[in-house]
Amino acid sequence: MAYETIAVRVEADQVGVITLDRPKQLNALNDLLMNELGAALKAWDADEKIGCMIITGSEKAFAAGADIGAMAKYSFADAYKGDYITRNWETIRAIRKPVIAAVSGFALGGGCELAMMCDFIIAADNARFGQPEIKLGVIPGAGGTQRLPRAVGKSKAMDMALTGRMIDAAEAERIGLVSRVVAYGQLMDEALGAALGIAGLSRIAVMAAKESVNRAFEGTLSDGLMFERRLFHALFATHDQKEGMDAFVNKRPAHFTHQ
Ligand code: HXC
Repeated sequence: MAYETIAVRVEADQVGVITLDRPKQLNALNDLLMNELGAALKAWDADEKIGCMIITGSEKAFAAGADIGAMAKYSFADAYKGDYITRNWETIRAIRKPVIAAVSGFALGGGCELAMMCDFIIAADNARFGQPEIKLGVIPGAGGTQRLPRAVGKSKAMDMALTGRMIDAAEAERIGLVSRVVAYGQLMDEALGAALGIAGLSRIAVMAAKESVNRAFEGTLSDGLMFERRLFHALFATHDQKEGMDAFVNKRPAHFTHQ
């Protein structure tokens, strides 16, 4: 399928890579881009061969936010009735296979929120994260006030949301917003290495792990622990569990068939 605002490729038949591609606007996220991103992710989520996905941008910008030019003139009535800007962002939440954000340069506003919607973030050392919406007279609209405090705690989240200041990759790693920081030249190798590793594991176990970790953000500890235990026990019904444990016991590599 041909896209206008993203470039897609498949690595090693197993990893889908999406490159946000509106370089003149620093990958500002407009409706078309979010539609195309959602469509590409959904197609790979349903594709048996794909085990993991990566979203990345350019060296200068992962994404500098929602497209300010496109939304500047909206009235409340338009935005509310049409669920503008935010309506097609929920697609990403519904993706069940892992999605990694490989972030270089600016990840601001909706760009930071998009990165946080992914399952984990690998950052280049030049990455900058921020929620500068407050400077535009608005607030984050795609999870910034909800996912950021869950990721980094109230004080840092308030600092970022109230001042709009950017943090660099080192600070982002220190506060737990990103999982790894590497030199810019290593960014895609690092992300691909992680994605290929995940794609080689039991798909069922990987999807269950994602579902269970996400559950930690939704409800109580008791509910989350019960949910995890049920999934853990359910995995003993899979062939992959027999294969993985037999391979360990017999000191041989495991060959998962995702059954
Ligand atoms: C539209 C954008 C844009 C954006 C940059 N551009 N960010 N266009 N929407 N979010 C455009 C600029 O207008 C400019 O176009 C070109 O990209 C290059 O940007 P410059 O500003 O010239 O680059 P630079 O001086 O290097 O500064 C980079 C920057 C700055 C610090 C990232 O562009 C910036 O502050 N951008 C806005 C960041 C922001 O406020 N994001 C939050 C948006 S609100 P021209 O045509 O002049 O070359 C949001 C709400 C989310 O995200 C809600 C989610 C549902």
